[in-house]
Amino acid sequence: MNSNHVMVTGGCGFIGSNFIRHLLARADFQGRVINVDALTYAGNPENLRDVEEACPGRYLFQRADICDVSLLRKIFDEQEIDTVCHFAAESHVDRSILRPDGFIQTNIIGTFNLLEAARARGKAFHLFHHISTDEVYGSLGPEGSFTEETPYRPNSPYSASKASSDHLVRAYHETYGLPTTISNCSNNYGPYQFPEKLIPLVILNALEGKPLPVYGDGKNVRDWLYVTDHCEAIRLILQRGRRGETYNIGGRAEMENIAIVERVCDLVDELAPSPGGGSRRRLITFVKDRPGHDRRYAIDFTKLQRELGWSPAESFGTGLRKTVRWYLDHPGWSRRIRSGEYQSWIREQYGKGS
Ligand code: NAD
Ligand code: TYD
Repeated sequence: MNSNHVMVTGGCGFIGSNFIRHLLARADFQGRVINVDALTYAGNPENLRDVEEACPGRYLFQRADICDVSLLRKIFDEQEIDTVCHFAAESHVDRSILRPDGFIQTNIIGTFNLLEAARARGKAFHLFHHISTDEVYGSLGPEGSFTEETPYRPNSPYSASKASSDHLVRAYHETYGLPTTISNCSNNYGPYQFPEKLIPLVILNALEGKPLPVYGDGKNVRDWLYVTDHCEAIRLILQRGRRGETYNIGGRAEMENIAIVERVCDLVDELAPSPGGGSRRRLITFVKDRPGHDRRYAIDFTKLQRELGWSPAESFGTGLRKTVRWYLDHPGWSRRIRSGEYQSWIREQYGKGS
């Protein structure tokens, strides 16, 4: 890999922290990672404590907001950034419905700032990889799947802000010749996911005997991608992805939400039987639907498979078992992130939290 000074944005979040661990564990990557993260409610430096200890000198954390142009420029120059792997975003659809403004700032303006900073590095710059979502394509009917040619039709403020940033990245390649790649992936799951998203929320609520909220009729379909499979796909794109191209990444695991929730209940029952006995399925509660709730997503990742030889290593069964196990083994992490306790630690370490 020609990348020596890799800026990972949003590296304290779910996918970013898994990616940094994945990349630094590879013998064929000898560069440095500079993790730029604002530490919002979703960013937790605890996610990378092991990496910080294992890789001194090759891992650097810089607390910074990607909306802070002058600080970004300083980091790009001081750290001689040649590659950007851009994860930082406001990432939760429900929050974007309640308060879209932060999504516009971080996801659109923040991406624009990073593109400008990368462009200013001139010939020293090697690759800007942008991590995006299948939600930019909108909703599918019962048949078919999204390809890289599917027209954009975002339906939530979150997906519209991601679509906007994708267009900016593409335009910087076309207009300025900035070396860029984009990936659009399906729903991720695995260790370190903030428990506002469906799978960790259901695991933790099931363990605590709380209601398991299922939106609408529970028949909305998502494709599920285990996070380390996603990380490996990104690593391959950094290594060999064609400049100016987009790659779809999927988990080959399309399922209705209700089926997901039932499977999580059954696994929690198996691995941590409820003290009073009885199935956690009894906690399933149908609630009011999300406005503009996309009915179905499905991903065709033939291009990635053909060009870079990637396909998911985990089935949904193996990935979900690992995920439930991880949450069972890390009750302290879940408690701290749910209570916001880690935010007071951040304030002590880094000053005022956001
Ligand atoms: P996350 O919410 O867990 O983490 C986001 C990280 O970005 C946090 O560490 C947060 O502190 C940081 N951040 C937010 N605003 C920032 C700012 N202004 N400046 C610097 N850092 C900031 O998100 P995630 O689930 O890890 O998602 C990572 C990326 O992958 C996002 O771009 C998201 O759109 C995309 N994606 C996620 C999924 C999924 O299922 N989670 C699916 C498709 C695409
Ligand atoms: P989510 O994890 O929020 O990801 P996204 O909105 O990016 O797909 O939601 C996954 C699916 O689960 C989505 O169809 C909404 C649904 N959902 C519920 O039914 N209940 C919940 O409590 C949550 C958070 C999501």
